[in-house]
Amino acid sequence: MANKIFVDACLGKETPYTPVWMMRQAGRYLPEYKLVRAEAGNFLNLCHDPKKAAEVTIQPLDIVGVDAAILFSDILVIPDEMGMDLGFFTGEGPKFSDPLKSQADLDRLTKGKEAASKLTYVYDTIKLLRTQLDERGDNIALIGFTGAPWTLATYMIEGQGTKTYNICKKMMYSNPELLHNILHEVTQVVKYYMEKQIESGIDVVQIFDSWAAAIEIDMYDEFSWKYMVEIADYLKSKYPNVPIIMFPKGIPAFYDKVYGNFDVFGVDWASPMALAKEKLGDKYVLQGNMEPCRLYSQEMTTASVENIHKVMGAKRHIFNLGHGILPDVPVENAKHFVSECHRVSGKK
Ligand code: CP3
Repeated sequence: MANKIFVDACLGKETPYTPVWMMRQAGRYLPEYKLVRAEAGNFLNLCHDPKKAAEVTIQPLDIVGVDAAILFSDILVIPDEMGMDLGFFTGEGPKFSDPLKSQADLDRLTKGKEAASKLTYVYDTIKLLRTQLDERGDNIALIGFTGAPWTLATYMIEGQGTKTYNICKKMMYSNPELLHNILHEVTQVVKYYMEKQIESGIDVVQIFDSWAAAIEIDMYDEFSWKYMVEIADYLKSKYPNVPIIMFPKGIPAFYDKVYGNFDVFGVDWASPMALAKEKLGDKYVLQGNMEPCRLYSQEMTTASVENIHKVMGAKRHIFNLGHGILPDVPVENAKHFVSECHRVSGKK
């Protein structure tokens, strides 16, 4: 069997065209997704049901024609299985009923391998997907993922999404030791979690640091990046051939300081691709970075795809959005994005 084009692209090898996938590609813009979620009852039930989770993972391959599948799950299943009682409420997003306030709160959580071994439904979904993808015979890669320790910690400390991050920043500046203890414990769970995802059959790892930009740039390494690098180092020491994608959103001011043993750097939509290429392009393959709201207009999508391709050329690039696709994007426009990425990069 030929190598998977997406894996080759992650490793910087030449590919016949530039592969494309979309962050949050399995989701609410697809009527077929909403149907399966309704059958499951709610979002978390869907994450807990390997058969249904596998079904929605595959949907964007058939419907929009992307070149990689991303495991259907959520970053917040990690703190949930550490004992934090996750709930999703329509229109409000995720919530933890009892956010972490003290060392005693952290001490009560399940940690390390024990926490990672509770995520059996994720590993079962991956095993099922491995079989289903291999049966298709189209060499589609499967991406597994985790949240970065910092992004996970923001939810564990605030109890929900936040605009100001005031509760975790209060901890950062007045009790950094506690924040580091939390980040350290989450890092250990994530290492084993990603190891088990790899053992279950994923081809590529992506680490989402969606809330990187909340940290002042001089402190970004200390409170986030070094923990992401610790995870990458651990995985690379055991699985050197499994590509790792780092996606820290919104930190172009850190590009001069980026270090670590990983393969692909995910560029968000607000950071210029040309800057990323100049600072990081020799060392890492770049992924990204169309502004996801361009998907509301096919014309604006085409213009952006052409621009990005002009900057990146045919090498060391993976097309993606610069953050997740939104639920009210027309499916036709998502298909248009994918086919334009293929057209400009010469897919036959
Ligand atoms: O990319 C994919 O298609 C795979 C599935 C995936 C989901 N969440 C499914 C989901 C992935 C990779 C994630 C990652 C995730 N989850 C991140 C990092 C990526 C990013 O977008 O920045 C974050 C921060 C979360 C936390 C989270 N999950 C929030 C804040 C919300 C609510 C906001 C929203 O989009 O509704 C979720 C819920 C969620 N995760 C949904 C999906 C499809 C929507 C739930 C639903 O179907 O009602």
